[in-house]
Amino acid sequence: MGILKKEENGLENLEKITHVENVKLSEDGKNVIIIDQTKLPNREEYLTLHTAGDLYEAIFELKVRGAPAIGICAGYGIYVLARQIETEDYDRFLEEFRKYKEYLDSSRPTAVNLSWALNRMENVVTSHSDLPVSKILKLLEQESRMIQEEDIRMCRAISEFGLSLIHDGDGVLTHCNAGPLATSQYGTALGPLFLGKERGMNFKVFADETRPLLQGARLTSHELAKSGIDVTLICDNMASLVMKNGWIQACFVGCDRVAANGDTANKIGTSGVAILAKHYGIPLYVLGPSSTIDLNCASGEDITIELRDADEIKTKFYEEPMALPEVKCYNPAFDVTDHTLITAIVTEEGICYPPFTDSLAEVFRKKRS
Ligand code: MRU
Repeated sequence: MGILKKEENGLENLEKITHVENVKLSEDGKNVIIIDQTKLPNREEYLTLHTAGDLYEAIFELKVRGAPAIGICAGYGIYVLARQIETEDYDRFLEEFRKYKEYLDSSRPTAVNLSWALNRMENVVTSHSDLPVSKILKLLEQESRMIQEEDIRMCRAISEFGLSLIHDGDGVLTHCNAGPLATSQYGTALGPLFLGKERGMNFKVFADETRPLLQGARLTSHELAKSGIDVTLICDNMASLVMKNGWIQACFVGCDRVAANGDTANKIGTSGVAILAKHYGIPLYVLGPSSTIDLNCASGEDITIELRDADEIKTKFYEEPMALPEVKCYNPAFDVTDHTLITAIVTEEGICYPPFTDSLAEVFRKKRS
């Protein structure tokens, strides 16, 4: 077989998918521009976010979603809002900045990247109280861009480390969406699959549809299929069977908040996948940047789980309601996977094995040095 031309190999599409501009600052710095993830895969629509309400709603309604992407959006968002504060007085500026910060921070509780990015931005303001507001704004813009640039580097490193855990031809199961749309470039759990594809490797990916909001069906299967990666979409309750059939050699999942002991909050259903993987003797890897590790949480007990509206279960994707209006629903958006079910946590600093209390602490020691 001759060498395939780039387009025959599907590599152009792959690059388009891995480098999607899902969140960015507008050229004049006045707006945040996002791809509306609720419209995918059927429509590629972009939204321009300018007000605090626009930004809050975009995060709350999952128009921008995925822990790192939420953090990046919040970083750019608070910069855009800071520009709208009409004062030269530092104390008044800080007061208004903090109001915006608290408001954005309240949009979703579980992914730590949101408060992580907002705290970084606040630190810029509080550590430069001697500077005029105009200079502080410049530094805020730089910091917000740095958050995204760092995420790109972290995802790339995670993809390399993750790729070292699998072999050409392996079957990989994933849950929810931890691809480029959820980050900036490549993604975390999906990053190794894209990187492997670039290098001519082939994997058989099984994507859980991920009820109730179907991020696996709408986003993961879209990103993988468009990149020419062999993906099979399954309903969440089919994961056990595909594992039993021997089709899965590794499970790759993302994370929204990792506690100091390795307990990991990720999309609801992840802990079920982990329990099944343990039963069938399949390794389960959590892939995420250090910005998702929260050493202030000793264990998963300290992680707040977002509860969402019943409509997401009963009506969202259906022409007619799927249950009677009076039926009660319980709709947690995340669950915590116990650290004992996790084979390793893959960060940009390397692959952390149990005991996670030590290996995760080491990640931060390395970052400081
Ligand atoms: O509710 P979502 O769609 O924001 O949940 C996203 C996830 O659970 C992802 O797996 C996680 O944020 C990691 S994204 C790299």
